Formats: sequence, structure tokens, C-alpha cells
Amino acid sequence: MAEFKKADGFIDWLDQRLAVKSLTKVLMTEYWIPKNINWLWAMGVVLTMLFTVLVISGIFLLMYYKPDINLAFDSVNKTIMNEVEYGWVWRHAHAVSASLIFLIIYIHMFVAIYYGSYKRGREMIWITGMLLFVLFSAEAFSGYMLPWGQMSYWAAKVITDLFSKIPFLGPDLVVWIRGNFIPADATLTRFFMLHVFLLPVVIMILIVTHFYSLRIPHVNNQEGEEIDFEKEVEKYKNGNKKESKVVAFWPDFLSKDIFVICTFMILFFYLMCFKFGFAMDPINFDPADTLKTPAHIYPEWYFLWSYEILRGFYMSESLGLIFFGFAQVILFALPFLDRSPVVAPAHKRPLFCIWFFVLLIDLITLTIFGKLPPEGINNIIGFIAAVTFILLIVALPIITTIEKNSKCSNGGTK
Ligand code: HEM
Repeated sequence: MAEFKKADGFIDWLDQRLAVKSLTKVLMTEYWIPKNINWLWAMGVVLTMLFTVLVISGIFLLMYYKPDINLAFDSVNKTIMNEVEYGWVWRHAHAVSASLIFLIIYIHMFVAIYYGSYKRGREMIWITGMLLFVLFSAEAFSGYMLPWGQMSYWAAKVITDLFSKIPFLGPDLVVWIRGNFIPADATLTRFFMLHVFLLPVVIMILIVTHFYSLRIPHVNNQEGEEIDFEKEVEKYKNGNKKESKVVAFWPDFLSKDIFVICTFMILFFYLMCFKFGFAMDPINFDPADTLKTPAHIYPEWYFLWSYEILRGFYMSESLGLIFFGFAQVILFALPFLDRSPVVAPAHKRPLFCIWFFVLLIDLITLTIFGKLPPEGINNIIGFIAAVTFILLIVALPIITTIEKNSKCSNGGTK
């Protein structure tokens, strides 16, 4: 058995039993981050904070929510919103952080694409990130069903209906997912279980895995510079902090991130108290009616781009479905579709830079048109934007191979 000395304080007592000092070193004070990064690298920590807000506000909502199709709507819209003191605070905090988390996820993804942070040993960071994106999508979809309003019901119907298009298995699969022939009580209770238990637990495990996958390749930097961490850490430890290219996660990096979080929280509280409407659909303040289809069904803003790919191929439902499925999974392959070994910001990779901005504009176009009614010119623009997305994915290996062969980038490292 290990030897225990009389502890000279609580920390020492804990350290002898749990090695907390070594743990703090490994996770905080001796976890090294490049100096050459900007505020956009704080998005990961902002996401962690938003997820924490979602969990805490969700726990409070759970105290009054009733997962029953006859009670769910009132438990949210009457009990929580009108009867429970400060119930509205938790509901608004939950809805606003659910919407903002997608905005920040998209920014975080585009920062990673712009700086090429998914390459050279960072593939697993990207893949675990994409898994988080898919799980957050499932989490948001299952949460949207819980108030059992008109949009909850009809969005659940439209999305679960998609599975019926799968050859052979489809129709049976839909009934199995719903636990009924139409979305009903069994559907609500199983999505409730997914939303409050299974998905959050898997998300927590994946966040830890995402952090762990950063450990060996290290965080990228603004120039894509390959840093000799051992040498730079040596300088830092010898007191030559100014010359060293790295800083410690704590206190250096995290204290700056905390500043970004505080600034972000000003926006968050403003939205939560005064502009929460953007995070809630007005149609969902009507209780679900299985006999009254809303004139125009659309998902939350963060799903609109992929929804528009589904609708864009208005002349063929099957094509729309195939490309919708394609759009859901293809971004997992980004590190392998980009054939150029150069890790550099997009402005130093001319061809890639054009590709990046066309992709960004295309996704914004898809998002805007995904909300508009599918008629006339909207159909044509939606179709062009959907085809452009597919072509961009096909073009990526080609332009990055050209880049690789012509060394058409001015900076970064291989
Ligand atoms: C809630 C979900 C997520 C959390 C909590 C999270 C957290 C983090 C954190 C703390 C970092 C390190 C600092 C930084 O670069 O911001 C990071 C880096 C990274 N994340 Fe995420 N992330 C999430 C989702 C995603 C998604 C959806 C993707 C993309 C598919 C992604 C891809 C990456 C990449 C490529 C890096 C490395 C950046 C670099 O080396 O410069 N993450 N993430």
C-alpha cells in the first residue's frame, strides 16, 4: 500500500489520494497552446459554456415538463411560462442557447475550414466535431418536439416520413421509429428519453473525446506554422515567455477565453430577455392538431440549408432525398477530400479561398431560400444553390490537387 504522510493542507491531502496536482498540470498548467491565434479560437470554449447552460436550464425545465401528448403543451406554455416563478427565464435561456449553439458551431466549423485545421494529424478532431454536429442536430430535433405544438408535430411528421423512402425497409422503419402509424404519445415519450438522457450523455462523452483528440496534434494557429512544442515549452518554462511561441492553457489561454465568454454573455442575456422570439416559432404556440396542416412547414434556421437541398430537386423527390443524405454525411470526409498537404489560412491559398467563399455564400443562399415558400423563382434559385453545393464538394479534390501540383499557395507548412 502507498505511504501517506500527514497532509499540510486540504490540497495536499487530496493530492496524496487523487494526484490532483499532476492532473492540474496535465490538463491546465502544462497543456500548451500556440500564441499565434485570435479570438475565433475561443469558440470551442464558448460552445462548452453554451452546452452547460443548456444542461442546467434543461434540468429546471424537466421539473415541470410532462411528456404526455395531452399535457405537454400546457406544461410548457402555461405552467412553465405563466405559473412557475421565473419559469420563462429557464425556457428562454434554453431556447436562445439552443439557437446560438448552432450559430457558434457553424462559426467554429468555418474557422477550422478557413485555417485548414482538419489536416495533418487533426482528422480525428474534425471527425469527432462532425459527430457532435450530428448529435446536436438530433438533440435539437427531439427537443423541438417536446412542447407538442403545431410545428413540433408537423416537423416530426415530415422528418420521420423521410425514412419511408428508404427502399424495402422504409415503411416499417417509420412505424418502428414512431411507435405508431402517426407521431403520437409513444413518439413523444421516446424522443423525450433521447432528448433528456441518451443524447446528452453521448454528447458529453464526445466532447471529452473531441478535447482529447486535440492533445497530440495540438491546436492549429493563424499561419498554419508547424511549431516545435518541446523547444517552445522549454523556453516558456525557463522564464523566456515573451520569445516562446506557446502559452499554458491555464492561466494564459483560458483567461482570454473567459473575457470572450463574458462579452458573449452580454449578447446572450440581451437576446434572452428582449429578443427571444427568434429562437421560437410563432406557429408552435398553437397546440398540435393532427387534422390541420400548417400552410408552410419549415425547420429551425440551422437546418434550412440541408432542408433546401432536399426541396431544391423539386422535379424529383428521390434525387432530393439522395442529395439530402449526401449533404448530411459528406462533410465528415472533408480532411480526405482536401488533397493538398498545405496547412495555411485560405487567403494564402487562392483557389481554395474562392472555393471557401463560394461555399459560404451558397450555404447562406440555401438557408434564406429554405424558409421561403417553394414556388416560382424560389424553386429555381433553390435548385441552383443545391446543385452548386454538390459541385463544390466534387470540385474540392480537383482544386486541391491542382494546388498540390502547382504549389499554388504562398505560405503555410506541409
Ligand atoms: C459543442 C460542440 C463542440 C465543442 C464543445 C467544441 C470544442 C472545441 C474546443 C474547446 C476546441 C479547442 C479551441 C478552439 O479551437 O476553439 C476545439 C477545436 C476544434 N474543433 Fe471543436 N467543438 C465542438 C464542435 C465542433 C464541430 C461541429 C467541428 C467541426 C466539424 C469541430 C472541429 C474542431 C476543429 C477542427 C478544432 C481544431 C481547431 C484548431 O486546431 O485550430 N468542433 N473544439
